[in-house]
Amino acid sequence: MLRLTLALLGLGFACAGSSLRGADDLLIADFESDSYAPWNITGDAFGPSPALGALDNQMAVSGYRGNRLINTFFGGDESTGTATSPEFTIERSHIAFLIGGGPHQDTLGIQLLVDDQVVRSSTGTESEHLLWTSWDVKDLRGRTARLYLFDRATGGWGHLCVDHIIQTDQPPQPFDLADDLARYRGQADYMNEPLRPQFHFSPEINWMNDPNGLVYHDGEYHLFHQYNPAGNAWGHMSWGHAVSKDLMHWEHLPLAIPEENGVMAFSGCCVVDHHNTSGLGDGDEPPMVAIYTGHGHGKQSQWLAYSNDHGRTWTKYAGNPVLDLDKSDFRDPKVFWHAPTSRWVMVVSLANEKVLVFYGSDDLKSWTELSRFGPAGVLNKPNWECPDLFELSVEGEPDTKLWVLEVDIGSGAIAGGSGGEYFVGTFDGQRFQAIQQSQWVDYGRDFYAPVSWENLPASDGRRIWLGWFNNWETCLVPTSPWRSCMSIPRSLSLRKVARNNEEPATYVLVQTPVEEFRRLIMSSRPLDTSNVGWPPKRLTEAGDLEDMTFELTATLKPGEARSVGFRIRTGDDEFTEVAYDRDFGAVYVDRRDSGNVSFHAAFAGRHHAPIRLVDGELTLRILVDRSTIEVFINGGEAVISDRIFPTRHEPVIEAFAGDDTASIPDAELHRVESTWERN
Ligand code: FRU
Repeated sequence: MLRLTLALLGLGFACAGSSLRGADDLLIADFESDSYAPWNITGDAFGPSPALGALDNQMAVSGYRGNRLINTFFGGDESTGTATSPEFTIERSHIAFLIGGGPHQDTLGIQLLVDDQVVRSSTGTESEHLLWTSWDVKDLRGRTARLYLFDRATGGWGHLCVDHIIQTDQPPQPFDLADDLARYRGQADYMNEPLRPQFHFSPEINWMNDPNGLVYHDGEYHLFHQYNPAGNAWGHMSWGHAVSKDLMHWEHLPLAIPEENGVMAFSGCCVVDHHNTSGLGDGDEPPMVAIYTGHGHGKQSQWLAYSNDHGRTWTKYAGNPVLDLDKSDFRDPKVFWHAPTSRWVMVVSLANEKVLVFYGSDDLKSWTELSRFGPAGVLNKPNWECPDLFELSVEGEPDTKLWVLEVDIGSGAIAGGSGGEYFVGTFDGQRFQAIQQSQWVDYGRDFYAPVSWENLPASDGRRIWLGWFNNWETCLVPTSPWRSCMSIPRSLSLRKVARNNEEPATYVLVQTPVEEFRRLIMSSRPLDTSNVGWPPKRLTEAGDLEDMTFELTATLKPGEARSVGFRIRTGDDEFTEVAYDRDFGAVYVDRRDSGNVSFHAAFAGRHHAPIRLVDGELTLRILVDRSTIEVFINGGEAVISDRIFPTRHEPVIEAFAGDDTASIPDAELHRVESTWERN
């Protein structure tokens, strides 16, 4: 959720790297002396000399090199002034510098002047932490140039910080992610910290949110994601990247699409352009084209980036943006090839208006509006984000195909905070029409912004998605040096369900862990659930299960009892409960005593999924992965996904029932192997 996340910007930034200068770099200015000479200074904002860090009444300034930097906070935000460099010859492909301070491009900035014309310019990033920015100046090689810094801004953030201006053929990344990663990869607990999920995807280090650009191509499932290359809280949103051959074992790849020039790479999708309709392919192989939201300079618009090497390197399209309504809340495009009308279709959100817009295109570059949908669904709740639209068959009715339109709500979802809803309906290539009320995607608190993989081979036939295993409200979960993971990839279908004998039956989205998950099961054994009652009966002994990575499958027969189910105990007073509750007609996950619940006031809670009994029974598949729990009820008719942060990690499983009319006719425990290669 955008508004909340913007407030988090500024937390947890890593320091800019210290070894980014290559041997061939040329220094233009490092501002290490106590005089500006030979630069020419006017006004008072620049002070009498480069500053020794922060100035009076300024927040901490960081990320600069050495002892001094340019800091135009001299005399506060009101002061103004300029600084002009001596002339120099452009001899390298890039000019790079560290920059921070206010984001006011008209009144605050650094410019490159050639023949007294402005040929490049940059401004601050609304941060006192300086980051690298670079200009590509290949076309200006050999020209004589000057740098001109100006501060005409007199309000909030009316100052600029600049340091270490160089010419280079190797433009530095804004942050030294490579260095941070190298350090982490050498650690003994690499991908094995006590709360690190072992069979769910997570980034090695730093913050992650929504899955992006899920696409299958040439034997690889791509999993891009909203990623902060600079730290463990939201910010500098860029596309991280991982690939897998089996949806379970992931290889972390370098950053795919970085934030650049004040434009973050927000959520979006990726297609394989088989017929090179975009013209962005450069050979026999079809290009991969990412369609995402560029967020910056006060607006959101839709951008393209493309790759001709199976997603290993990406180029931003020169004609960006390709879709621009000049709006500040227009985001998260999902594009797919609609075969019957032979064109690309995009669904994208006017987030604040709670309206989805559908567009069509022949080439991914020029888009024509087709129709709109909404406001609809859970009304009075703001913010629709991250839509997805796809066709599914109905179980047992192979000829019935319907469309599912999924969309996410930043707050006010069923279990509190953010969550997703979906509509079932028809889509004729132009317009989506819902045929029933929207329903909740997941009844837990931690399943957001799911998107499905595009381009799976027809021979596979599945529709698979995964979601961000987190909630914007409680997103600053107690893990480090990484934050967040994804849900287990889930296969989707539609099922006609009459809940509580209500008529008519509704089409329900059914989610089950993909088949590939079963290959991770190392051993299975039945649990003795005879004579369960109250107090809870121990099914495993301490030490039986060395780790919180397992699956528990069971059938419950509630009879007349008020409740029946399981406790996953991780301490004398520490357990997570998964059970059926007759009075609620629901299965619930209760995480009030699950471990660390105090990091956010809204975290502790009990989350209910309304369910039906079939012949007096219900089934559970419970996936536990150190700090995650996913409960698939009745073969996936309802799901509860919750994060948990136990303080001990060798669980004991217990079962309980309200009275002897209830029973657990079968239960099995499956140990699940880790998917990470450890140090
Ligand atoms: C949803 C969201 C998207 C946006 C992204 C930014 O979680 O707010 O709407 O594109 O996160 O990181």
